[in-house]
Amino acid sequence: MAIFIPEDKISEIKNAVDIVEIISDSVILKKTGRNFVGLCPFHSEKTPSFTVSPEKQIYHCFGCGSGGNAFSFLMNQEGMTFPEAARALAKRYGINIPTQTLTPEQRRAIDQKEKLLNINKLAMEYFQRCLSADVAGQGARSYLKRRGFSGDIIKRFNLGYAPKGWDHIIRFFSKKRVSGKLLETAGLVVPRKDQSGSYDRFRDRIIFPIIDINMKIVGFGGRVMDDGEPKYLNSPETPVYNKSRTLYGLHLAKNACRTAGSVYIVEGYLDLLALHQHGIVNSVATLGTALTADHIRLLTRFAQRMILVYDSDEAGIRSAQRCIDTFWKEHVDFRREDVFQEENADTRILVLPQGHDPDSFLFENGAESFETAASAAPGIISFLIDRAIQKHGLSTEGKIRVVSQLQAPLAAINDRVARSLYIKQLAERIEIDEKVVLEKIRETRPSKSIGRETSGAAPDLKSVSDASKLSIGGNRLEQKIITMMLQYPQILPEIDRQKVLKHFESKLLKSIGTTILDRNLKSQAVVADLLNTIEDPEQRRLMAALAMTDEFWDEKGSHLLISQFVDTVQRRHQNKEMDEQIKAAEAKNDQSLLYRLLQEKQKQAIRSAKQKQALLNNK
Ligand code: GTP
Ligand code: MN
Repeated sequence: MAIFIPEDKISEIKNAVDIVEIISDSVILKKTGRNFVGLCPFHSEKTPSFTVSPEKQIYHCFGCGSGGNAFSFLMNQEGMTFPEAARALAKRYGINIPTQTLTPEQRRAIDQKEKLLNINKLAMEYFQRCLSADVAGQGARSYLKRRGFSGDIIKRFNLGYAPKGWDHIIRFFSKKRVSGKLLETAGLVVPRKDQSGSYDRFRDRIIFPIIDINMKIVGFGGRVMDDGEPKYLNSPETPVYNKSRTLYGLHLAKNACRTAGSVYIVEGYLDLLALHQHGIVNSVATLGTALTADHIRLLTRFAQRMILVYDSDEAGIRSAQRCIDTFWKEHVDFRREDVFQEENADTRILVLPQGHDPDSFLFENGAESFETAASAAPGIISFLIDRAIQKHGLSTEGKIRVVSQLQAPLAAINDRVARSLYIKQLAERIEIDEKVVLEKIRETRPSKSIGRETSGAAPDLKSVSDASKLSIGGNRLEQKIITMMLQYPQILPEIDRQKVLKHFESKLLKSIGTTILDRNLKSQAVVADLLNTIEDPEQRRLMAALAMTDEFWDEKGSHLLISQFVDTVQRRHQNKEMDEQIKAAEAKNDQSLLYRLLQEKQKQAIRSAKQKQALLNNK
């Protein structure tokens, strides 16, 4: 039973805990200056980038980005849930935890989730029993055997069999007094169209329980054993099953991912089983849904290198393109900014030879061939360049097509360094001038990171974009403000008064800022408290990193930063107005006005770039 732990108890535990002591249980820490450092337990590394701050009672790894307080450490390291971590810490520091009442709503939600998880567990065990049943499970067992899967794999993945018939699950649970309604919510049964009760969702199928990293059974997949349709059937999303956050097999793969520093991502249940059976345990499956930003976030906790495995070029290309969107637009937006100096997640695309999926490839060629092929897998952009060249050739027309195919993916990369490296790579591969590619990319790329100042019309204002390369863009400044808020809480009333957060461009930073204001942080030590109450892992992680930076903020510096920010916002508004005027001038074809406006805009851009640079040099 989940015990709700009252907030003041959590505070009491937090005050008692020494994070250095907790982490020292599993990581060898060395003192350097104010902090301790060691080798990160969450990814494999040779030089220590895992930092623990006894002052702030938080940790952060500058290598893999994991971070948090003593609670999150236990949750990540030991796979505990929050209440489990709290209880473990309370016990260690001799704090007594009473149970407490919840609001009826909270109680209901927790109860429901618990019931659903329990139902899933019972269902899983039921399906397992059916698979080993003498007669009923015979067909399923021999199917799995025919596909080459060992008894050990069947056990490790808790495979089962849902028997033929419409109401086995319903009857099994009615004996346990579980209502049809609840089974519906669990996704195990489907209501009949005419409302007269329900029937089993999974019938005469091999069952693959879907288990999350906390070892909870959250859902099921089922495969037919003949050519029936659909080939696979999955649980719907339920209060305990979120498809875009769940990766099949991660509970078995996570340690291997950390050790290897890499993870294979395949599409199917049986592909995944085949990998495990061939000893390639650092692998997970996405199960029919596209890889989401949440999936990637989850995986970056365990491995830097991700190898996406596909059974055809088309699938590989489609996914590569989607990945670029996911990685570089949403995810990387703030984290890949140079402040954190994190290594880019290294993502590769492996397309298996014609006609093979991982399952058939492994059973035919073995693990070694698979790993050889994987070690030659190109990165996403290189992959797209390769395929575009293959398709269009290197004639003049071909090169033009290649560049225009790569235009959008390259433009989607927010990280300047990565982008220019790839542009260089493309230019070299097709032997054309890098500048030409660069121009092409500029065409596609909306003002955003080539310089916010150059937004709007006038793509030919080359010197403007050059000047604004100096500028850092909203995120960096906004990050500084958050860091300042964390390091120098005396400034919070001023932030509030000037409505600074209102003008933030980064949604994530804005919500972090708002959280800090809302909680009215009074001292640095409270940062750890705050971290702990933030549910969104990305928010928590970014905040830990910002709180960890060694910066000193005082009254004077803080006011300076705020006024710089306010200036920037004002300039942004002016720029917008100017762009509108430019557009109007273009529409009217008023060349002399247009020329004047463009000149003015260029001056403005250079001025603001210099100002920003000066500010950053200052701090
Ligand atoms: P085998 O054909 O048994 O080797 O399985 P596979 O895993 O190779 O299947 P396939 O390549 O056809 O599909 C890959 C994954 O896509 C599967 O594991 C499922 O998660 C999903 N999938 C395939 N077919 C269906 C379907 O009909 N419905 C749903 N919902 N998902 C499917
Ligand atoms: Mn297959």
